[in-house]
Amino acid sequence: MSTPDVTPPNKNGAGDRDRPRARARDGNRNDTDAAPTRRSVVTAAGVTVTGATALAAGLNSVVPATALSPAAPPLAAPAATPPGVDPARYTTVARAIAVYDQHDKPLVPSYLKAVEKGLPPSGARASKRVLIVGAGPAGLLAADLLNRAGHDVVVIEANDNRVGGRVKTFRKGGHENGEQPFADPGQYAEAGAMRLPESHPLLMALIEKFELPRQEFLLVDVEVDNPTQRANRTWMHINGVHLRRADYEKHPEKINDTFGVKDPHRTKTASAILAAALEPAHLLIRGKEGTALVEGWVKVLERYGHWSMYRYLTEVAGLDTRTIDLVGTVQNLTSRLHLSFLHSFLGSALINPGTKFWELKGGTAKLIDALYAPVRGKVRLDRRAVRIERTGGDRTGGKVRVHTVSEDCQTGEGGVTEVFEGDEVIVTVPFSGLRHVAFDPPLSYGKRRAITELHYDAATKVLLEFSQRWWEFTEEQWKEALDSVEDGLHAAYAAGRVEDGRHLGAHRSVRDLGVRVPDGLKKCFSAFRPAVQDDPEAAHVRGGGSVSDNANRFMFFEHAHPLEGSDGGIVLASYSWSDDALKWDAYADEERYLRALAGVQGVFGRRCEVFFTTKCKTQSWMRDHYAYGEASVLFPGQHAELFPDIPTSEGPLHFAGCHTSVKPAWIEGALESAVRTALKVHTG
Ligand code: FAD
Ligand code: ARG
Repeated sequence: MSTPDVTPPNKNGAGDRDRPRARARDGNRNDTDAAPTRRSVVTAAGVTVTGATALAAGLNSVVPATALSPAAPPLAAPAATPPGVDPARYTTVARAIAVYDQHDKPLVPSYLKAVEKGLPPSGARASKRVLIVGAGPAGLLAADLLNRAGHDVVVIEANDNRVGGRVKTFRKGGHENGEQPFADPGQYAEAGAMRLPESHPLLMALIEKFELPRQEFLLVDVEVDNPTQRANRTWMHINGVHLRRADYEKHPEKINDTFGVKDPHRTKTASAILAAALEPAHLLIRGKEGTALVEGWVKVLERYGHWSMYRYLTEVAGLDTRTIDLVGTVQNLTSRLHLSFLHSFLGSALINPGTKFWELKGGTAKLIDALYAPVRGKVRLDRRAVRIERTGGDRTGGKVRVHTVSEDCQTGEGGVTEVFEGDEVIVTVPFSGLRHVAFDPPLSYGKRRAITELHYDAATKVLLEFSQRWWEFTEEQWKEALDSVEDGLHAAYAAGRVEDGRHLGAHRSVRDLGVRVPDGLKKCFSAFRPAVQDDPEAAHVRGGGSVSDNANRFMFFEHAHPLEGSDGGIVLASYSWSDDALKWDAYADEERYLRALAGVQGVFGRRCEVFFTTKCKTQSWMRDHYAYGEASVLFPGQHAELFPDIPTSEGPLHFAGCHTSVKPAWIEGALESAVRTALKVHTG
């Protein structure tokens, strides 16, 4: 199988150099142990919400009045605002959510102008030397904007072979000259960002500007023979029940009963229950814009900003524990119930079947290639910032120095140190990583507190390659393929008579890719294989995601539209967050693959093993040396307590990155921050 995350980089090749180096096979890592528990256990005392409604399609978007339930649920009594929170902080956060200025006017139009046409003329202002720490989307866009406006820009990037940060495509070639990750040379897959919401204007503008070929990202599966038609036939595999999504929508009680969900929720889908549960908060913002929208968000923050999602679902929505268990399992909330209500509230408005998503042909890293090209000569790879110093004594004058080390410096193999000097600096390093960057003189207390306390979530992906897109097969295609391996194999799988892993990678299409599966692997794999009695019928879907309560949790078919010249495909066998992800992170890469395959088999049946190429990739963002976590997913209260101090400049020090927006874990948030800080440097 492919190189594990934890091995040192290949000295000759460039492919895996952005992987964690010093973290060897260490079973005792404790940096992922900080599982927080602010899951306040409160008995249901709130209002039972009935009447499903549609969710908003975007963060600031307005749900049409027709989506309202006839009798809108009554609001829960406002929670007392914790003493000591300055009310102005709510307004700051509210404006950041809406992307408004201090006059409650949208910032997006001027940001779009900057992205499309460049920064506005700055009159006679002198060109500045600007250091930008980090070459993710935020750093690269800020660099391009400032460079084009005539500033002298240097981008300082820790990674020694790659830019893009958490936008990372496992692919051959690209700017990083990556090694072929899968057996099929045409295949690629996403370690990080994969779905690009159409409602994200700056991102869409960049894709258009660079003319990047795109295709729809299929959150919901479509008919294989008619891709314009939603099928909704991916699997739900929960509490031993195996059901197509469409069937669950017709008969929610088939799964709901297994949780003990009672009326009035028994016959409602988990998504409808969640939508109705979020209604009291939605009502505060729906249909509003300008100052009214800001005031609406302030109310959301005052009432629920200090609450976990669990507390909200219990106290406001009045859901009982069994219903919360159902909603958490199906809607990917279980591992985040203790985290801030606001994060999941915003997230659920975006990650839902109503959102149109795009993906880039060739991978999300195509966006990075395009952002990188105009500033390539300005980027210094293999320079990790460890100390940022301001000369001149006070907070307003002098120069800024960024002290850096090369990767080798950390492992004691020699290495280079270099100091960069500039007039101003834009720091895009996630705050989780900034905790280990020294500032001299120290930053303000608010910023230090935010850097110290901001919660970062875990996210882990496990990607498996198959030589055929078996999930698109009809039963007839299955029969033909399996019986070509061994007479009667189709019937044997269907009857649950294939009891070990001897057929792992046995289909000739696997051999055609040059892969031979060692007997030892087949033997070990036999131990992992699920003990299902018989295989379910053919999935026969294109794209979409399945949900399971096994460790894989969420499974997606990568780039749903078939790649030209390739019969195979990549399955995102497990995409998990938070505690769900940490349970994968305990394993080294190699150990994840067979388990992930077994998890896929538990849902789709064991027969897919014949197409397994053994070429796999995985990415744990919590273990990533340069990301230090998936994203800033805040604890209850942190929006008001910490956020206002995050994006603020301190003299010549500016702070960008998706964590400085209220769209952490979204490229759009990084782009917003790039324009904000570039404008600040340019016009300041
Ligand atoms: P990053 O991309 O993290 O870039 C920061 C850069 O700083 C990196 O290049 C890093 O190497 C560098 N760096 C770090 N420390 C130092 C240092 N000390 N010195 C110098 N350089 C340093 N977004 C979407 O829009 N759609 C999605 O579907 C999506 N899915 C995601 C799934 C996962 C699993 C993850 C992890 C992220 C996902 N995102 C998605 C979010 C998106 O990838 C991020 O929001 C975006 O990459 C953030 O950009 P950034 O520039 O702020 O930070
Ligand atoms: N943007 C990422 C995605 O599309 C993640 C969003 C939320 N992340 C989280 N841990 N809650 O998958």
